[in-house]
Amino acid sequence: MSHHITEVKNLKYSYPGGKEAVSDISFRILHGESVGIIGANGAGKSTLLLLLMGILTPQSGEVVIGEVKMTKKTIPSIRQRIGMVFQDPNNQLFMTSVYDDVAFGPRNSGIGEDEVAQRVAHALEQVGIEHLGDRAPYHLSEGEKRAASIATVLSMQPDILVMDEPTSSLDPQSRRRFIKLIKEFKHTRIITSHDLDMVYDTCERIIVLKDGLVAADGAAKDILSDEKLLGECGLELPLSMQGCPKCDADI
Ligand SMILES: Nc1ncnc2c1ncn2[C@@H]1O[C@H](COP(=O)(O)OP(=O)(O)O)[C@@H](O)[C@H]1O
Ligand SMILES: [Mg+2]
Repeated sequence: MSHHITEVKNLKYSYPGGKEAVSDISFRILHGESVGIIGANGAGKSTLLLLLMGILTPQSGEVVIGEVKMTKKTIPSIRQRIGMVFQDPNNQLFMTSVYDDVAFGPRNSGIGEDEVAQRVAHALEQVGIEHLGDRAPYHLSEGEKRAASIATVLSMQPDILVMDEPTSSLDPQSRRRFIKLIKEFKHTRIITSHDLDMVYDTCERIIVLKDGLVAADGAAKDILSDEKLLGECGLELPLSMQGCPKCDADI
C-alpha cells in the first residue's frame, strides 16, 4: 500500500492509577514524511508511540493507519506495516541469538527461510553488526543491543518506521551509520529523541510535546531554531544551531 497516512485524533491516555500521560493529541503524518517527536522527559513521547502501535489502547480518540482504524481486529494487519524500535532494547530481544531475533518477524509472516536469511543479513549489515549474528542478545553491550533491536524492525521492511530514542547508547560511528540509514529510508519515519542534532539531520518536520499535548508542529528548521519555544518545553537548541561562544561562529 502506498498511502500510509498515520493519523491520531484527540488521543487521551492515563496509566492505571497514574496521571494523564497523553491529554489530547491530534496530527496527521503523510506517507514518506520524516517526523521527529521531541519533548522533555515525561512529556508523553513513549506513551504516544505505544498508542500508535496499538500496544496501549486510548481511553478516547483514535489511531488510523492507512485509512484503517486501529481496533483489536485490525491490529495484526496494521502491525505488518508499522515497525517499532522500543526505548528499551531488552523489550525487543528475547531469542537466544541475534540472528533468530532479527529473523523472528519475517519467519512469523510466513516468509521462506532463504529470503529470511537474506533479510537478516541485510538488516545486520545496515546497522553494522554482521559479526554479532550468533551472539546471545543478553550478552551484548547496550549499543550493540540497540543496533540489534533496530535490525529486528528493518528485517520486516515496514512502511512506517517508529523509533523511540534510537541513538541513545550508540557510539559515534554507529550513530552516523544510523543517520545515513534513516535518510535513505524512503517510507514514513517517526522518531523520538533527545538527540536534536540527529533529529535535525533526519527529520523535516517536528512535533513538540509538552505535558501530554502538542506544543508545536512544524518545519524542523523553524522549530529547532526557536530557542524560546524549546526552552519552554524543557529543551535546548541542537548543538549545530548554537553559535561558538568564543568566536561567534557556527559550530
Ligand atoms: N507504566 C507506567 N505507569 C504509570 N505511569 C507511567 C508509565 N509509563 C510512563 N508513565 C508516566 O506517563 C508520563 C509520560 O511518560 P512517557 O510517555 O514515558 O514520557 P517520555 O517518553 O516523553 O519521557 C510520565 O508522567 C510518566 O511518569
Ligand atoms: Mg520515552
